[in-house]
Parts: sequence; C-alpha cells; structure tokens
Amino acid sequence: MSERPVRSSVRVAVLGCGSVGSQVVRLLDEHADDLAARVGAPVELVGVAVRRIDAPREVEVPDGLLTTDAHALVARDDVDVVVEVIGGIEPARSLILAALEHGASVVTANKALIAEDGSTLFEAADKAAGGEGRDLYFEAAVAGAIPILRPLRESLAGDRVTRVLGIVNGTTNFILDKMDTQGSGFAEALEEAQELGYAEADPTADVEGFDAAAKAAILASLAFHSRVTAADVHREGITEVTAADMRSARDTGRVVKLLAIAELRDGADGEAVAVRVHPAMIPRSHPLASVREAFNAVFVESEAAGQLMFYGPGAGGAPTASAVLGDLVTVARNRLAGTRGAGESAYAAREVLPMGETRTRYHVALDVDDRAGVLAAVATAFADHDVSIQTVRQEGRGADAQLVVVSHQATDAQLSATVEALRAMDIVHEVSSVMRVEGEAE
Ligand code: HSE
Repeated sequence: MSERPVRSSVRVAVLGCGSVGSQVVRLLDEHADDLAARVGAPVELVGVAVRRIDAPREVEVPDGLLTTDAHALVARDDVDVVVEVIGGIEPARSLILAALEHGASVVTANKALIAEDGSTLFEAADKAAGGEGRDLYFEAAVAGAIPILRPLRESLAGDRVTRVLGIVNGTTNFILDKMDTQGSGFAEALEEAQELGYAEADPTADVEGFDAAAKAAILASLAFHSRVTAADVHREGITEVTAADMRSARDTGRVVKLLAIAELRDGADGEAVAVRVHPAMIPRSHPLASVREAFNAVFVESEAAGQLMFYGPGAGGAPTASAVLGDLVTVARNRLAGTRGAGESAYAAREVLPMGETRTRYHVALDVDDRAGVLAAVATAFADHDVSIQTVRQEGRGADAQLVVVSHQATDAQLSATVEALRAMDIVHEVSSVMRVEGEAE
C-alpha cells in the first residue's frame, strides 16, 4: 500500500506549457468548481515545468508554480497526478517513469512514446506504489478531443472489434481534401496547409505517416488486446499522391484518404493483427469520405455493435486539453477511491501480419495501346498472380486508351507483383495510378 497521507485535494503537476499544456492550465483554473464537484475534491495545480520561465505563453501561470526542474517536480511527494504534455521520447519517458516510481498517477498525450515504448511505461505503472499500481491514461494521444481509446478499452470491452479504420492525422486530411476539391497537386496543397498553420515547417512526421502510424499502433493494441508498436505498422505517407490519383478516384466514385487501418486477419498461427497506414481510395458514400479539412474520425467495426464512427477535432490546444482533462478527472477519482482503472490488456498476444500477407484490393490505372488483345494481356497479368478482377473501365483516346482495373482482394504481395509485371509490359505505356481500395465489400 502507498504510504502517502490521505489529502483533501488532488494535487497535479503539469509538464509542458505549450499549446496543450497552457490549455490544461487554463481549464484547471476556469473549471475548478466543476472539476472539484466531478472528482469529489478540489484539483489543485501545484507546479508547471517549462523549458524557460520567461517564454511567452498563452496562459498566465500563477506565481511560484513555474519551474525549469521537471525532474524535481515529478519527484515531489505531494504530487498525486503528473500530466505530461511535452511530447517526444526523452525526457518525457524518464519523467513519466520517475513520476510513477514516486507514486504519482500519469496522464499523457504522448503518442510517439506510447507507440514506441508503451510496454516499459505500463510495467512501471503496474509496479508503482509498491505494487499497488498507478493509472497511466492517454486518451489525448490519438485523435485529439475524440473519445476513442476509452470506448475501445471500456465501452467495447464486451464486444469483439474486428476492424478500425481511422483518419487520425488532420494535416494530411487537410492536404488531401484540398487536392480533391481544388484539383491542386501535393506541393501546392502542402504550402496552403503551412500558410494556414495546419502543417509544420518540417511536415515530415505528418506527410510521411509517422504520426498516423504511432496512433495506428495504439488503436491496434487496444482494439485487439495485443502489443503493437509503431515499428510493427506498415507506413506509407501522402507525398507520392498525385493529381492523377485524385482524378482517377473521382472518376470511379471514390476519394483518397490517408487511413490508419487495424484489422483481425487469419495468420499462420490463428488470428493475427494487420496494421498499416497508407493512402487509400474509399467510396464517396463511406462515412469517412465526409471527413473534411483537418478533422479526424475513427470508424470501428465490431461483431455485436456493428459499425460505429467517432468524429471531431484531432488536434489543437483546447481540443487535446479536453481529452487530457477527461483522463485527469477519472484518474483523480481513482486516487481518491484508492483504486485504479484498467491497465494494459495484451492477453491475446496476437502476432502482427507482414504487409505482404495482408489482404487488400488495388485500383490500377494504365495507359495502354488501343488494339486487339491488350485487354486480354492485362487480364492475364492479373490472372498469372492469382488476382481476380472486380471491375475494368476502358476509355479510348485515339491511338491509346486508359484502363482502370479494380481487383478483388488478394495479398499485398500478389497485388504489387501484378503491378510490377504490368509495368514491364510493352503494351503498357504508363501505370499512372496505383492505390489500395478500402471500405467496400470484399
Ligand atoms: N500533427 C497532427 C495532425 C496532430 O495533423 O493531426 C498531432 O497528432
């Protein structure tokens, strides 16, 4: 049992006072009475760790609470809950581990850390307070304000989730939406996103899919009760998406989205988890197709509940702080009750399927000679790789033609080998668009 005295308030330290941290500090102050009523005791801010005391910030932090010594703050005996909103791997990991070691519960928004090294943190949370255990909550790590981790962890705990499809990166959704609606290329849409403050000056984490891959790993772990890390996620960003891809999607009634996909699939030793992030075409009638601009949404399919969609702002100071505060209320209540919420659930220990073995469908647009036998030769390339064709559209353009082939499901290895074979054929002038198709009947 913890040797800490029972207190009449829950004492909170916040690590980081950037766009999220400053909103956490603001909401703690402005909603103090409501929070006290909801928790059952006042929630008291006792320290805010920052890099520079005199940096300009969005909120006025009460005198004496700012410190540059985050390690000393998390080691204080009078801190019940540490809120980590610094981001990145270090020093966030050391600070969270130290906080747990000193008996504090932790709320974090740190997707990169949970996805890379969640197991170390979960083990530390289980061992904290002499084995009593402490909460480690991280709702804000995925899709900002949208409640999705708690629904997976708690509301759907009695169901069997089979697939999670998410638009979990607002920057890339904004860029793809502009490419779709304005017909712009990737570079132009990225520039607009940067001008409007949706994309960072260095947009790599977003446009190359790293941010979405971290979130996909977290979603897969919770949905399938298995340990999935960012390194397990097949990742492709949106930098190669072209205006031709967007047109081709539009012509076939689809739209391009960067999807985080986690699903249960048959593996060699039973059920496995397939988890990937890549651009994909989805039908314009799919609920995720209506997610515009920088919004996020997560579409969940489960055996008993059927299809569920969670939608809202996936980033930004106040929306992310909303999720942090929600966790803080739960964690604070647990502290007062001398209990903790559910920890990591990885009992299923499912293997992660390699991308090559993952089943999906391809949309392939080809410029070909327009003469007898060409369609048959293209169809043969698919048949040679045991890939069944679902639809073929052909448009004559004088001497040549464009073919758009959409396959039925096959493994990604079969499908990519088919595309390689098509590229090598003399009758194929160019493979102008290759993209996976998701969200349709298989
Ligand atoms: N950069 C992310 C996005 C938000 O564009 O959605 C933080 O995860």
